[in-house]
Amino acid sequence: MRTLSLMAGLCLGASAWANVPANEPVEPIAPAEITDPAKVELGKQLFFDPRLSRSGFISCNSCHNLSMGGSDNLPSSIGHNWQQGPINSPTVLNSSLNLAQFWDGRAADLKEQAAGPIANPMEMAFTHILAIDVLRSIPQYRESFKAVYKSDEITLDEVTDAVAEFEKTLVTPNSRFDLWLKGDQQAITQTELEGYQLFKSIGCVACHNGPALGGNSFQKMGLVEPYETSNPAEGVAGLTGKDADRFKFKVPTLRNVELTYPYFHDGAYWKLEESVDIMARLQLGRKLSEEEIGKITAFLKTLTGQQPSFALPILPPSNNDTPRPQPFE
Ligand code: HEC
Ligand code: HEC
Repeated sequence: MRTLSLMAGLCLGASAWANVPANEPVEPIAPAEITDPAKVELGKQLFFDPRLSRSGFISCNSCHNLSMGGSDNLPSSIGHNWQQGPINSPTVLNSSLNLAQFWDGRAADLKEQAAGPIANPMEMAFTHILAIDVLRSIPQYRESFKAVYKSDEITLDEVTDAVAEFEKTLVTPNSRFDLWLKGDQQAITQTELEGYQLFKSIGCVACHNGPALGGNSFQKMGLVEPYETSNPAEGVAGLTGKDADRFKFKVPTLRNVELTYPYFHDGAYWKLEESVDIMARLQLGRKLSEEEIGKITAFLKTLTGQQPSFALPILPPSNNDTPRPQPFE
């Protein structure tokens, strides 16, 4: 059975976790190491700057709200002109741990990903050239880019590089579960511990493992029983055209999952308990009791870590040369 072979693979790989005292299939999240604070600061400004959108109103933070677990808590996002997005917005928290970006993995890394939304007509709806023109018109941005990249040009490559550098700092260490992993027996309750044991013993951990409890493989949604949805997303098959990839999605991280409702790629389920029940039935062919669901849910809530915390960036003002926003067209 697929789950069992995945589990066996996990056990064989156990030496990789030798530094974790409890030798568990989940590793603690490492705190961010900031090597280039000026670049991180610039990336932070860009992440919060709505002038990278055509309307002058939508920033990365609009759909990946860092006050709400790095997501928008909507079934699917609202983009330019109030357009309905096609898929649920995944959290940007711990996204540096993903093997690739997007539900179908079509961007290799955060830098490649960051160019997407600016020019996506349904998201920020700008052209890259216009977005760069906005930045070039603002003297403080010119100075910051020059300080970081040692050049008078501002390029898309630099913009996405800085945004990615900032996103790498958006990790959430020191969740109660991580404290437990590091040896603090009191950090989680008996019920939460039993939830974790169930999570392992029934096989959730086959797909949700590693430091992010996900983000490291593509798996079929609806392995045992099909998932009913009106959302047309095909998963990886949308890229490869292969039937075997139909409904394969990047396994989402379960870090901070308590904050990132609604759940699944179509954002159809608001209750964590419901998504645990669905996962057990559809992925593992198992009907859990209410008590078991309660325990696993309690465990999942111990995965909420320290949220990124910093002063809101104050953005340099536009000036007479800055292209004007087009909010109503
Ligand atoms: C209008 C809403 C919206 C805006 C604005 C937006 N995003 Fe997203 N973002 C999404 C959605 C929806 C997805 C998932 C799309 C998919 O997988 O096909 C996504 C995916 C991502 C991912 C991949 C996460 C993962 O786990 O795969 C990252 C990282 C990300 N966005 C960062 C950004 C950055 C940086 C910006 C600003 C430059 C930005 N987003 C702007 C809605 C938005
Ligand atoms: C065979 C791999 C696999 C197994 C086993 C599995 N999952 Fe998942 N899990 C996924 C995939 C893939 C998704 C995304 C599905 C989608 O959005 O369509 C997902 C999504 C989730 C989500 C929603 C996360 C979000 O942000 O939308 C939760 C919660 C979850 N899984 C918990 C569990 C639990 C609890 C178990 C065990 C009962 C489990 N999973 C077993 C692959 C798996």
